[in-house]
Amino acid sequence: MPRKKLTILDLQKKRDRREPIVMVTAYDYPSGMLAEQADVDIILVGDSLGMVVHGLESTVSVTMEMMVLHCAAVVRAKSNAFLIGDMPFGSYEVSVEEGVRNAFRLMKEGGVDAIKLEGGAERANIIRAIVDAGIAVQGHIGLTPQSVSKLGGFKVQGKTAASARDLLQDALALQAAGCFSIVLEAVPDRVAAHITDHLTIPTIGIGAGAGCSGQVLVWHDMLGLFARFQPKFSKQFTDVGTAITTALQAFTAEVRAGQFPAQEHVFSISDDEWNAFAGTETT
Ligand code: KIV
Repeated sequence: MPRKKLTILDLQKKRDRREPIVMVTAYDYPSGMLAEQADVDIILVGDSLGMVVHGLESTVSVTMEMMVLHCAAVVRAKSNAFLIGDMPFGSYEVSVEEGVRNAFRLMKEGGVDAIKLEGGAERANIIRAIVDAGIAVQGHIGLTPQSVSKLGGFKVQGKTAASARDLLQDALALQAAGCFSIVLEAVPDRVAAHITDHLTIPTIGIGAGAGCSGQVLVWHDMLGLFARFQPKFSKQFTDVGTAITTALQAFTAEVRAGQFPAQEHVFSISDDEWNAFAGTETT
């Protein structure tokens, strides 16, 4: 029986019951279908798609157009998971008006249930404005890949007492601004657990240990589809990349050996039609 569509209230209840929340990224119709079949709670159309789907060096050049296109494809899978779309770099920092307009776009054209954006207390104003406009917002602090140039690389955050304190203040500011949940990325596990304990909303960890309210992984990392880089915090649960390569090698070999297509893969024409056709050949 199909489950009921999840809402932010269901996610909050899971957090209150200390039931781990499962979130995974997905970027297209088939991955949306597969994530639904696996019964995940949240599907994130993350801007990580810039790297794992489009082969970009970072998420910085991901555009609203790319996000809308991928969100709409995932939405067509009609998943009952809660669907979140990432606001790309540059779509919410310039002005509150532009940020709200782009959040509306991701909801209306992309069709997602909520948006996610990166940053700490400095993003409280835009978060408040988007929430006031009627859109649920997930925050994202710690390693925020869109700010990779400011952070000096993809580095663990909150490793000093001062930076851990800043992260806690950021988390509290995002909660006060109206976020329904916060992603904690690449944060020491004790710091992430402490932040989680000081919030009333769910935290979703990626490289932040088991003390978060839930966990998220990037589709291509966990399935073995992204050979370029495997973050320490990710776990590869299967090796789909090798399965695909093996299948493609078999296809290549069969075509070259004249084994594919076989008789069962072709369509026939009746003898009468064939003779009428072949008999009228002009060359
Ligand atoms: O873009 C993304 O996939 C993300 C997750 C790593 C949380 O932001």
